[in-house]
Amino acid sequence: MRFSSTLITLASVPYVLSFPNAKRQTDEPQQTDLSGQERINYTYFEGHGDAPVAIDLNLDADGRNETAPLLYGWMFEDISHSGDGGIYAEAIQNRAFQGSTRDNPGLPFGPSLDGYYPVGNVTLRLSRMQPLSEALPVVMEMEIGGLAEGEVGFFNEGWWGINVEPGTYNVSFYAKGNGARMNGTLSSVNVSLRSNLTDDTWAEQTIEMTEDKNISYFSWTQFETQLVVEESAPNSNNSFYLTFNASEVAGDVFYFSLISLFPETYKNRPNGIRRDLGQIVEDLGTTFFRFPGGNNLEGESIDQRWKWDKTLGPLIDRAGRVGNWGYYNTDGLGLMEYLLFCEDVGMEPVLGVYSGYSLDNYGAGDTSFPEDAMRPVLEDILNELEFITGNTSTYWGNYRAELGHPEPFELNFVEIGNEDWFSPSSYNYRFPYLYSGIKDAYPNLTLIASAYNERDYNLTLPPGVIWDTHHYELPSYFLQNFDFYDNWREETNNSDVGVFIGEYSVFQIDSTLPELNFSRPPPIEHVSSPRLLSIIGEGVYLLGAERNPDVVRMAGYAPSFCNLNSVQWDPDLVDFTANYNETVRSTSYFLQQLFAHSRGTHTLPVTNSEGEFNPLWWSATIDEDVNAVYVKVINSGNATVDFSVNVGAE
Ligand SMILES: *[C@@H]1O[C@H](CO)[C@@H](O)[C@H](O)[C@H]1NC(C)=O
Ligand SMILES: *[C@@H]1O[C@H](CO)[C@@H](O)[C@H](O)[C@H]1NC(C)=O
Ligand SMILES: *[C@@H]1O[C@H](CO)[C@@H](O)[C@H](O)[C@H]1NC(C)=O
Ligand SMILES: *[C@@H]1O[C@H](CO)[C@@H](O)[C@H](O)[C@H]1NC(C)=O
Ligand SMILES: *[C@@H]1O[C@H](CO)[C@@H](O)[C@H](O)[C@H]1NC(C)=O
Ligand SMILES: *[C@@H]1O[C@H](CO)[C@@H](O)[C@H](O)[C@H]1NC(C)=O
Ligand SMILES: *[C@@H]1O[C@H](CO)[C@@H](O)[C@H](O)[C@H]1NC(C)=O
Ligand SMILES: *[C@@H]1O[C@H](CO)[C@@H](O)[C@H](O)[C@H]1NC(C)=O
Ligand SMILES: *[C@@H]1O[C@H](CO)[C@@H](O)[C@H](O)[C@H]1NC(C)=O
Ligand SMILES: *[C@@H]1O[C@H](CO)[C@@H](O)[C@H](O)[C@H]1NC(C)=O
Ligand SMILES: *[C@@H]1O[C@H](CO)[C@@H](O)[C@H](O)[C@H]1NC(C)=O
Ligand SMILES: *[C@@H]1O[C@H](CO)[C@@H](O)[C@H](O)[C@H]1NC(C)=O
Repeated sequence: MRFSSTLITLASVPYVLSFPNAKRQTDEPQQTDLSGQERINYTYFEGHGDAPVAIDLNLDADGRNETAPLLYGWMFEDISHSGDGGIYAEAIQNRAFQGSTRDNPGLPFGPSLDGYYPVGNVTLRLSRMQPLSEALPVVMEMEIGGLAEGEVGFFNEGWWGINVEPGTYNVSFYAKGNGARMNGTLSSVNVSLRSNLTDDTWAEQTIEMTEDKNISYFSWTQFETQLVVEESAPNSNNSFYLTFNASEVAGDVFYFSLISLFPETYKNRPNGIRRDLGQIVEDLGTTFFRFPGGNNLEGESIDQRWKWDKTLGPLIDRAGRVGNWGYYNTDGLGLMEYLLFCEDVGMEPVLGVYSGYSLDNYGAGDTSFPEDAMRPVLEDILNELEFITGNTSTYWGNYRAELGHPEPFELNFVEIGNEDWFSPSSYNYRFPYLYSGIKDAYPNLTLIASAYNERDYNLTLPPGVIWDTHHYELPSYFLQNFDFYDNWREETNNSDVGVFIGEYSVFQIDSTLPELNFSRPPPIEHVSSPRLLSIIGEGVYLLGAERNPDVVRMAGYAPSFCNLNSVQWDPDLVDFTANYNETVRSTSYFLQQLFAHSRGTHTLPVTNSEGEFNPLWWSATIDEDVNAVYVKVINSGNATVDFSVNVGAE
């Protein structure tokens, strides 16, 4: 999805549930009075009213078709702090001072001290004189008052707080002294997790300076330790502290960078995924994972695109980048982390590759690579594919092995670009060029096109390609398009192209107000969270998809995750805050979970002997492995409908 001009959405309705820590970008949800205006158009929803419906299920082995095995997947990109401050479990905000901050800093995304606060008589400032690495040139300087007493240091407030619960937290940071301002009496540093509201300390650890490892005048030293938490904090208003005894360091100057705190992660991966959010992806029954975007793949300029090779290797070498959703990305959640997450959950990776088109560079205009300059774009993709799938005798495959994964990753799906209907006049040469270049090298990959001939794009998709289509719509749209895929092949003259509903959701409720234009100002707004009415629309659409497994191969709701403290788009599948107890799975999540767990292996022939679709909608499948029949029925109307199922009819 994409906004044409603004990154900010406003919520039109109060929360369905209350989130004590949550704060939307507007301090209060816009309390626009929609009573007189927001009238749901029930006419269509009522359909045939309460007229009874009877269906016959034919259990003969003939006439069944295999269901699409990957139908219910997950779309992910770093939007609404779903990556940094989200599924990426790093608990420190702005850990390397790149400006990877919790708030929308806007341009120029410069380095900042956001998230850090002094403890005692110290002054914190940015320093460019003591680079930690080429990628992380700006560090934090801490000057301790010459007369300081007691405890001195700094704390980091996390991503709107830090979740503290029983478990082990890994701490790491880099530190260095200033030779001219360090008198050598430092004996230890303390790290701790403390309440930001009370004087409770949840865990504390002392790091002793030794002859082998100390904060040196001459070079950076990495310190690692663990904080063991034994009891849950009552809330997530907690901070990470790094402190000294002023009697040892008064007058000294120190430098810090890459300050990191990891709770236990999903499947215990170092540098991994937030445990509860990873579990939620698994629990849905998710079959595939589309990453890294979304617009966040494209960048606001060619230089700001997601560069896969810059997201690899030690964190100290990851500079991060200006993300597309108003905040800086650390790239700590990089290509390896995504692939390992896919492996850990057992999901098919659906890799979005940069296809030579970037967005509007904050008003400067979007950019496409010219037709005769596409070669480096292809080479970059081929290198990326070699990194993922090449054996260790290849340059990039060998690098992957060095990073700890000698086995090639299994990769079957590659999407060429994202939403290239924004650039049809260049996609019509970019796609064919990249398609043949990738296909020549990797004939077994299924390639996905991010645009198609919706208008006069002059784009022919070769057989076997899957078309990624996005639908942010009203419930009535989804009802009206229940049969969209029934005759799609004939209508579009497509015998061999499949469909990937790569992003979809009910994002607004039918009303007498005009339909939302993404950049339209309030009061024409999105619903903040999926509602019952949302999933009636989405569910009917999915039934239509499930009935046509030869056409619709995959579907993923979007956006999937949203940190409630930084909402760039709603509704979302799963909302969360720093407090794991506040994670909320939406109605749309439960709908997909239900469907994913009752997909069945084959569609069953079903006929109606009485009544018609609307307001009742149905589909039937069978799981041949366990011999279970699934009948899914949705009533979009407001009346009770008599419904009977005749099983085993001829
Ligand atoms: C309500 O839906 C019906 C059926 O689609 C349509 O004919 C009618 O124009 C709609 N009314 C409004 C106010 O949108
Ligand atoms: C902090 O340290 C500075 C410099 O040593 C000193 O001038 C100042 O009085 C101290 N302030 C406090 C509150 O201790
Ligand atoms: C809590 O954190 C805020 C910054 O988020 C800070 O200004 C305040 O001093 C902290 N309070 C305590 C008790 O640590
Ligand atoms: C600090 O570490 C360096 C290098 O390991 C060592 O040479 C030096 O003696 C240490 N300093 C102290 C005060 O222990
Ligand atoms: C989360 O819930 C657990 C179990 O009810 C409780 O012990 C803990 O204090 C809660 N944590 C937060 C941060 O609310
Ligand atoms: C460091 O932690 C230890 C153990 O909790 C404590 O005794 C000591 O006072 C702390 N030192 C500082 C400087 O806070
Ligand atoms: C080092 O710091 C300690 C504590 O502030 C102080 O007592 C001592 O005089 C300092 N030494 C030097 C050489 O500055
Ligand atoms: C924490 O550190 C331990 C010991 O080094 C390691 O086994 C574990 O994987 C780490 N966990 C995370 C989340 O980094
Ligand atoms: C498609 O081709 C037609 C005829 O040559 C041309 O008018 C149109 O602009 C092309 N469309 C795009 C998106 O390039
Ligand atoms: C493609 O798949 C076929 C059949 O599974 C296999 O024999 C062949 O080696 C694969 N080719 C490549 C380039 O992976
Ligand atoms: C299976 O596919 C065939 C060919 O498209 C179609 O005629 C038939 O109705 C499908 N069966 C089911 C149960 O959807
Ligand atoms: C259904 O909605 C219509 C108005 O749209 C109303 O007249 C009717 O009473 C409703 N039926 C029920 C059972 O609520």
